[in-house]
Amino acid sequence: MTTDYDGIADQYKESKLEEWRTHIEQFTLLQMLGDIAGKSVLDFACGEGYYTRVLRRLGAEPVAGVDLSGGMIDLAKAEEVRNTLGISYQQGDARAVTLTEPCDIVFAAYLLNYAKNYQELLEMGHAIARNLKTGGRFITVNNNPDDPPGNFSIGRAYGFTKHLEGELVEGAPVIFRFHLADGPFDVTNYHLSRVTIESALGEAGLGDIRWHAPSVSPEGSRLHDQRHWAPFLAGPPVAFFDCTKR
Ligand SMILES: C[S@@+](CC[C@H](N)C(=O)[O-])C[C@H]1O[C@@H](n2cnc3c(N)ncnc32)[C@H](O)[C@@H]1O
Repeated sequence: MTTDYDGIADQYKESKLEEWRTHIEQFTLLQMLGDIAGKSVLDFACGEGYYTRVLRRLGAEPVAGVDLSGGMIDLAKAEEVRNTLGISYQQGDARAVTLTEPCDIVFAAYLLNYAKNYQELLEMGHAIARNLKTGGRFITVNNNPDDPPGNFSIGRAYGFTKHLEGELVEGAPVIFRFHLADGPFDVTNYHLSRVTIESALGEAGLGDIRWHAPSVSPEGSRLHDQRHWAPFLAGPPVAFFDCTKR
């Protein structure tokens, strides 16, 4: 598996500043996480550490981040030097990770949508299950497998669009285009159906999958009225779920 994040690490970091990231993505994930003070957390596909730092600041301990991209991990480590939180970062494939002690929570914002087929997803599922205590939780957001291509342009109001060449079949590349002030950049995800996701994670030993509708933070609702957020909430481009290690 390769990753194309080394060349876009700075741009991706900038894309995390878009309002929907804070007021929908982060707000929904934090609602799902609940109180994580004192919980051990592994952040898979941590990127430059955006959520890794959020998790640590919420009181999680210890917190570790793993990402395939050396460029992303370099940014994460540089931030850790600037503002030390006690997070450990490691460059590598999440599928190869085995912690010395399983943790309470595995978190992954946009990992699963890099699996191109059932086998790669199963390997991710095994890595998640292997690194969780029994009863531990996996919390995640990914490309929404149920988002129909006819809805792929609604993200434009929020700073991004999705693109597909051909049919939305298993393994089809779904391109997220982030429209920044300096110009757009692309990130390629892969479509796997909800059935495939539930089946692979189930085979890996993760159960009780619960899908969560996105919600808007109170501050987001103050910034923009209902009409602004309605298309996102009615046809979410990304999908949230959590599950438990059996
Ligand atoms: C969209 S970014 C998300 C980064 C971070 N979670 C966030 O939300 O800001 C996706 C990240 O997944 C990483 N990635 C893709 N496949 C991976 C794998 N098999 N193991 C670890 N990281 C992976 C990429 O390098 C990239 O940094």
